[in-house]
Amino acid sequence: MSAAIEREVLATPAELAAAAADVVETELAAAVDRDGAATLVLSGGSTPRALYRLLATPERRARVPWDRVEFLFGDERCVRPIDVDSNYRMAHEALLGALAPDPGSVHRIRGELPPGEAAADYEARLRARFGEAGPPRFDLVLLGLGGDGHTASLFPGDAALDETARLAVAARAPVEPRDRVTLTFPVLNAARRVLFLVAGADKAPAVARVASGDATAPAARVAPAAGRCTWLLDRAAAAGIAGRGTDPAG
Ligand code: 6PG
Repeated sequence: MSAAIEREVLATPAELAAAAADVVETELAAAVDRDGAATLVLSGGSTPRALYRLLATPERRARVPWDRVEFLFGDERCVRPIDVDSNYRMAHEALLGALAPDPGSVHRIRGELPPGEAAADYEARLRARFGEAGPPRFDLVLLGLGGDGHTASLFPGDAALDETARLAVAARAPVEPRDRVTLTFPVLNAARRVLFLVAGADKAPAVARVASGDATAPAARVAPAAGRCTWLLDRAAAAGIAGRGTDPAG
């Protein structure tokens, strides 16, 4: 049975980004206090860009000991890192370029490789860094939600949904860029905390599907076994569930 799953609705995307930044800062600072270091899994797509830019601002940057944070990616498109579709490029432009972390603390998915090779390379680096015992327990995993209910690059009907052993696999998206690499459910559900960021009316049907426990929506299968899962939604994305309780599946 997963631990707490909670939801907060914010009036606007700007308020959503600010609320998300508060969670990121709190979780990473607490992890460094507790363990001396922190791990942050970055999401791709467009929604997190405002969050990343906010975290990188001079007034907020000092709230996190960024030199103690390791950065990972929940998924990547199989394109070069300079490609406009690259999740790494978006994160670098919005956050990592400003923070200028030690290169060894950024675990980029090498999307320039063929999908299978890129997934195996990422998996090997994760296991070399975090051990072979089982899925690493990342402190904070950022995720988005697609209109079809996907999250990371775990798309409906894709074989990646059924992976129970590997940490990262190749995946196929129904839209370009089709070739992807994604973390798998075992990793997402091992997290200490997952934070979904969802904005826009186009996401309302998918949010409602997850809230109703529709397991055909891959995002509905993210429920950390011993962690928190928080959904931050703007009012437009929450339109289909207004007035529901705190648990998206409740
Ligand atoms: C990606 C993301 C993907 C994204 C959703 C929402 O590589 O695109 O990992 O899961 O979070 O598709 O994307 P938007 O934030 O652009 O709506």
